[in-house]
Amino acid sequence: MSLLPADPKVRAVLERLHAQSAAQDPELGAYFGRRARAGDLDWRALDEDAHRFMADKMVALEPDKAAFCAQVCRALRARTVVEVGSSYGVSTLHLADPVREVVLAEGGAGRVIATEYEPAKCAAARGHWAEAGLVDLIELREGDLRETLKDLQGPVDFVLMDIWTEMARPAIELIGPHLRPGAVVIADNTTQFAEAYADYFAYLNDPANRLRTQTLPFAGGLEFTVRV
Ligand SMILES: C[S@@+](CC[C@H](N)C(=O)[O-])C[C@H]1O[C@@H](n2cnc3c(N)ncnc32)[C@H](O)[C@@H]1O
Repeated sequence: MSLLPADPKVRAVLERLHAQSAAQDPELGAYFGRRARAGDLDWRALDEDAHRFMADKMVALEPDKAAFCAQVCRALRARTVVEVGSSYGVSTLHLADPVREVVLAEGGAGRVIATEYEPAKCAAARGHWAEAGLVDLIELREGDLRETLKDLQGPVDFVLMDIWTEMARPAIELIGPHLRPGAVVIADNTTQFAEAYADYFAYLNDPANRLRTQTLPFAGGLEFTVRV
């Protein structure tokens, strides 16, 4: 069973983009390996050099994690999905596919609210979404998510948190109040970057926020949080 959506147009775009993203992995490994060996890398807040290096990188969510997110969206019959960190729009396509399924099957509205602040990534993502035939289901909020998510309208069914770790806490503070009971929030690499996610976990574990969380054993750890 393939991890990619069944629709041939979406599949073709995703096959190409996942391959492009994977092809950048050695360059990413070399950069962060060099910085780590030099002892001047702080994962809690990327510095200017790291931000500059990452500005044009895809860093797409791995296909198994993205497919899992799509399955959770299907199970939830998700119609309002928020993607925190969209880059070139790869995981956005994985999320928009099940939203389209529910809209086609049951009628009504559905959308993925995508967020990205690099203008070149936004332009490229729009092109990928149009090519895949899913652009009408995606609302891109271009700019710093700390501004663009301020006027979020709930209820939100599903959130993918795939962002530099320092942005996870500001994002969940804006989105958390709009989660419907039963909503799911998935965050990437929470074991690998546990220290950098400390303030995010403090939010998840605060009883006032009514969340229950568990780390799933995907590579790097995938945080699965339910609004109870
Ligand atoms: C890990 S990548 C997202 C990958 C994407 N989910 C995918 O699977 O294709 C994180 C993205 O978040 C963007 N980003 C980082 N900080 C941001 C902020 N404050 N507001 C909006 N976007 C931001 C980065 O430019 C980067 O493209």
